[in-house]
Amino acid sequence: MPVPIIIDCDPGHDDAIAIMLAAGDPAIDLLAITTVAGNQTVEKTTLNARRICTVASITGVPIAAGCARPLVQPLLVGDDVHGESGLDGPRFPQPTVDAVPEHAVDLMYRILTGHPEPVTLVPTAPLTNVAVLLTRYPDSAAHIRDIVLMGGSTRGGNTTPAAEFNVYVDPEAADIVFRSGIPVTMCGLNVTHQALATPEVLARLENLETELSRICTELITYFASAYRRLWGFTSPPLHDPVAVARVIDPAIVQCVEASVAVELRGQYTRGATVVDMHHYLDRPVNARVALTLDSEKFWDRVIAAIDVLGKRKA
Ligand code: BDR
Ligand code: CA
Repeated sequence: MPVPIIIDCDPGHDDAIAIMLAAGDPAIDLLAITTVAGNQTVEKTTLNARRICTVASITGVPIAAGCARPLVQPLLVGDDVHGESGLDGPRFPQPTVDAVPEHAVDLMYRILTGHPEPVTLVPTAPLTNVAVLLTRYPDSAAHIRDIVLMGGSTRGGNTTPAAEFNVYVDPEAADIVFRSGIPVTMCGLNVTHQALATPEVLARLENLETELSRICTELITYFASAYRRLWGFTSPPLHDPVAVARVIDPAIVQCVEASVAVELRGQYTRGATVVDMHHYLDRPVNARVALTLDSEKFWDRVIAAIDVLGKRKA
């Protein structure tokens, strides 16, 4: 049976591919796409979710806009990586898929409580919506099977020396999620940096020869130029689809259990995920922490999903 999920995202180049993987893979039942401020403002990330659903022929999946700013601090956007639109690179047609007129948090709650079985949340963005859901609707926890998120890192950051972007943008929200008692799987930079879109991967995409594969190639090419300029990567890491892949087949993303705490106060380390794999701190295990990606299986699923969606359109 496909796993029912809600993807909470801020598209975002890698979020866009995560949405396509979730919508195109038979192991997933995508119940909703909710958006949040992160890579860009929530207006832009919502427009981008509609753009992706339009070009990928994803219909019948509700899209709802959520929180416009983090719980405590002002919003920091990722325009250096994702550009002014949040999805720079390709030219998108006018979207034909609309968002629903309901707040993302209310939509999540309605879907969770109406679904016959517990649902997996897959956040690939700052955790503001999820934290508000858990705080505003404490009974929602009983309807969440687990939370498989892209965020954090076992070592070092990409926004400060210590902090990864999604956690750094809203550390208080991440803290609520990691302390919620709900099973959390953390796919951090240490594993997503194994999901490199190499020239071979781009060639496989191009060979699909669909309009959608062309758009994906342009998205990844833009993303690659940002990663080359900012961090000197030869090939860019597609972070967010790794969390979806973990849900599709746990064998693709191998994890260990550990305690994870979010640093809220450090002068230089706010937003860091402190992962205690060797039990120095004697804190209870609260997360599965992803360490290893089977990149061959990962790219097979990503390419297959983009192929399915691209042909659905043709
Ligand atoms: C995360 O930050 C965003 O820029 C990406 O979309 C990803 O979710 C990586 O740190
Ligand atoms: Ca993201």
